[in-house]
Amino acid sequence: MATRKVTALVRAANRDSVEFRQVPAPEPAAGQVVVRVRAVSVNRGELHRIDDPANGGWRPGWDLAGEVVAGHRDTTEFTVGTRVFGMCQGGSWTQELAVAESSLAAIPDTVSWQQAAALPAAGLTALRTLRMAGPLAGRAVLVVGASGGVGRFAVQLARRAGAEVTAVAGGPERAAGLAALGAARVVTDLAELRPGFDLVLESAGGESLTAALSLVGHRGLVVSYGNSSRRDTVLSINDFYPKQARLHGFYLLDGIVEEPPAADLAELAGLCAAGELSVEVGAEADWADVTTVLNLLRTRRVAGKAVLLVGSAPRGPDG
Ligand SMILES: NC(=O)c1ccc[n+]([C@@H]2O[C@H](COP(=O)([O-])OP(=O)(O)OC[C@H]3O[C@@H](n4cnc5c(N)ncnc54)[C@H](OP(=O)(O)O)[C@@H]3O)[C@@H](O)[C@H]2O)c1
Repeated sequence: MATRKVTALVRAANRDSVEFRQVPAPEPAAGQVVVRVRAVSVNRGELHRIDDPANGGWRPGWDLAGEVVAGHRDTTEFTVGTRVFGMCQGGSWTQELAVAESSLAAIPDTVSWQQAAALPAAGLTALRTLRMAGPLAGRAVLVVGASGGVGRFAVQLARRAGAEVTAVAGGPERAAGLAALGAARVVTDLAELRPGFDLVLESAGGESLTAALSLVGHRGLVVSYGNSSRRDTVLSINDFYPKQARLHGFYLLDGIVEEPPAADLAELAGLCAAGELSVEVGAEADWADVTTVLNLLRTRRVAGKAVLLVGSAPRGPDG
């Protein structure tokens, strides 16, 4: 019997982009359901991997939203037809995917495919990095890269937890909307700030991480979770160690194995459904237009999240 195929986006062998290919339809393993994917998001981390020539053949996609179409006989959480969203370790830019139930949550009726697809990686990163500092009421939190996917969730969640949030954006245009999301102060240059932050969420790397280490306050915490600038950091250690502050690395793809994200996803979806967390989708297109969306993200023109709608199946080279 011929193996059933589905369409997926795969990192091209010889250019910094993706192309459609036919891949075997997924079979659910123990604990997994098969999801008919309706929408996915594009994370900067995926863009970094697509832009790396070593990654020909890699299948991008950590976030997904869709409906359950089948399940392994031992699954208990989701029945066929349930709208779900969540995360996997890669390959969600496809029509169908097998995903562990522990990495999924139900989508509330009032939440769209696009909103649900935008939530997982960015929302979980914001939620879990903020948690690393303990209770945030009355504490000073600095969010670098606040105009982006993680940043816009982090500003809102920190404010919701009672923090005094300072947001950093690349320019006045990129700063638009951040005050409305809860930032008490929005700056476009880290040099405007004085040290004393209890928590700094840092993902730009390079000189921005150098600055973060000098801006953190006594016994404060810097969480480094990205390197958007792809630059090395010179450590001004005299600005750092006398404060007895901490620098902590964060890596979600390991974190969701150690602590499966279902409960956190349900929390994010609940906040979204209750109107307490705004999902800012700054770019949205059918997956046939993936190149346009990748270029918008490359050139820092997405305010919030970029989302692809998984539509009909353009025929790929193996189709
Ligand atoms: N460790 C983890 O588990 C984890 C999880 C999620 C994301 N990440 C990483 O965290 C970073 C943020 O993710 P995201 O999805 O929020 O990305 P994003 O939507 O692209 O947002 C990143 C923001 O960083 C700012 N930025 C500052 N310097 C930049 C530079 N040189 N190049 C590009 N952007 C720059 C940009 O804001 P302005 O244009 O306003 O400056 C941009 O809006 C990425 O590096 C991503 O790979 C890591």
